[in-house]
Amino acid sequence: SEGRHVRRTAYHFQPAKNWQNDPNGPMYYNGMYHFFYQYNPHGALWDIGNLSWGHSVSGDLVNWAALDTAIDPTAPFDINGCWSGSATILRGGTPAILYTGIDANKEQVQNLAFPKNPADPLLREWHKPSYNPVIPLPADVPGDKFRDPSTAWLGRDGLWRIAVSAEVSGVASTLVYRSADFVHWERNDAPLHSSRAAGMVECPDLFPVKAHGEEGGLDTSASGAGVSHVLKLSVMDTLQDYYMVGRYDDAADAFVPAEPERGDDVRNWRRFDYGHVYAAKSFFDARRNRRVLWAWANESDSQADDVARGWSGVQTVPRKLWLDKDGKQLRQWPIEEIETLRRKRVGLRRNTMLSAGAMNEIVGVAGAQADVEVAFRIPSLEEAEALDSNWLLDPQKLCGEKGASVPGGVGPFGLIVMASGDLQEHTAVFFRVFRHDDKYKVLMCTDLTRSSARAGVYKPPYGGFVDIDIEERKTIKLRTLVDHSVVESYGAEGRACITARVYPEHVETSNSHMFVFNNGTDKVKVTKLEAWELAAATVNVGDEGLIVS
Ligand code: FRU
Repeated sequence: SEGRHVRRTAYHFQPAKNWQNDPNGPMYYNGMYHFFYQYNPHGALWDIGNLSWGHSVSGDLVNWAALDTAIDPTAPFDINGCWSGSATILRGGTPAILYTGIDANKEQVQNLAFPKNPADPLLREWHKPSYNPVIPLPADVPGDKFRDPSTAWLGRDGLWRIAVSAEVSGVASTLVYRSADFVHWERNDAPLHSSRAAGMVECPDLFPVKAHGEEGGLDTSASGAGVSHVLKLSVMDTLQDYYMVGRYDDAADAFVPAEPERGDDVRNWRRFDYGHVYAAKSFFDARRNRRVLWAWANESDSQADDVARGWSGVQTVPRKLWLDKDGKQLRQWPIEEIETLRRKRVGLRRNTMLSAGAMNEIVGVAGAQADVEVAFRIPSLEEAEALDSNWLLDPQKLCGEKGASVPGGVGPFGLIVMASGDLQEHTAVFFRVFRHDDKYKVLMCTDLTRSSARAGVYKPPYGGFVDIDIEERKTIKLRTLVDHSVVESYGAEGRACITARVYPEHVETSNSHMFVFNNGTDKVKVTKLEAWELAAATVNVGDEGLIVS
């Protein structure tokens, strides 16, 4: 055998080969997790007419068995491609899928599919009724701008609702459709959201969260006291996902934002991830009573690289998602099942003080397949650099100007991962604390500028401000998952996430190193550091992921 390719991930979701993009129709049904995804069965690149729904099943959201594609472009209503959509568990307990078909006229329409045999524990085959499309292209929407039906939810009137993205008279809109039987759908006059500024938006997701900081999830149809809603949209313009928390009113099918000051332009809303992810989709995991989010992380090297490797695209690890106590900010954390992959564990002496310029190696675990959790205590904020208000608008640029190697006052401190022995290649994940208007602002960055010696790879600094009161807490935590070509980081207990794709060259021939560092003049204390080597999960190779009775 030619061996495992160094870029292939060990525990992130990937098909065995070929192109994947958006997560589609994730669900828990009959004791099994199902994951579908935009898949080109014919090659490593996205190809407008060749999209199918890839399909895998799992007992634990970590190990996956690949099945045949679930939905393929075979009918007049989807002959030019089966695009993104979502699954809904209907009242009788069986699932249904709504997805976008590119029809024989190359127009986007919404179609319905059912399992051929709901008793099949794997739901291998899907039936597309000949009465499709269930929602044809509306007269006021262009043929290439009507797509991505969401999971449906039930209103108190007993009608199903879905959200669909559309451009209506040049305005990016999230439309709501209602149905009594899941087959006949009627559009609500007013969209759930619209924006003149944002360009086309895609992949809408509307879901309930507990309003008061509890971590447990809610069924997509939950409403009433103690429930807030999240509207998530993907903006084509920036290839970024944004969300707003608010109140959803099922009588009017209207959404009232909790932060109206952010306006209608989705690009000013909050972000799930300041890195390289898109087209996120959540589902309610009834087995563990939580909401789980998936998102696509595209490659950052070239199409020629994709073709040479024979594959492109990974998914983030599934993330548990809930609303922070402040009622505005979502928190995310890798599902706990990932921890079953933890093997060799190493630590650092408790309360290791990191002075200016300190760099302590984390030895003993393979640095290309690791999970690191570290807590930094900041004894003094005295040296925090002053921050000009202009910088508040562009944290990513700030991460570029003030990278890990630019000494500061409080920070930069954090982790260096995927480092070659000579440090020529390395990826830094770090915090930096600024003083602003007698308050403090915490910046989190993942700096890829030195991640690979190769040219022609996208190596930006990524970053965002972290919503915490560092003066009161004095401690900030970081968890980073390293997986060959993925560096996925969770700052401040899931308040800020940054997912990056990296392509260091040294991994072809040698090991990767990890360090904890401080490059600020103020000391920081590492009150806790644990690092694990992670075992490889079984992801779409062989059939060990499958537990079928
Ligand atoms: C988002 C998207 C969706 C579409 C799908 C096609 O990445 O453009 O809007 O349904 O990908 O693959």
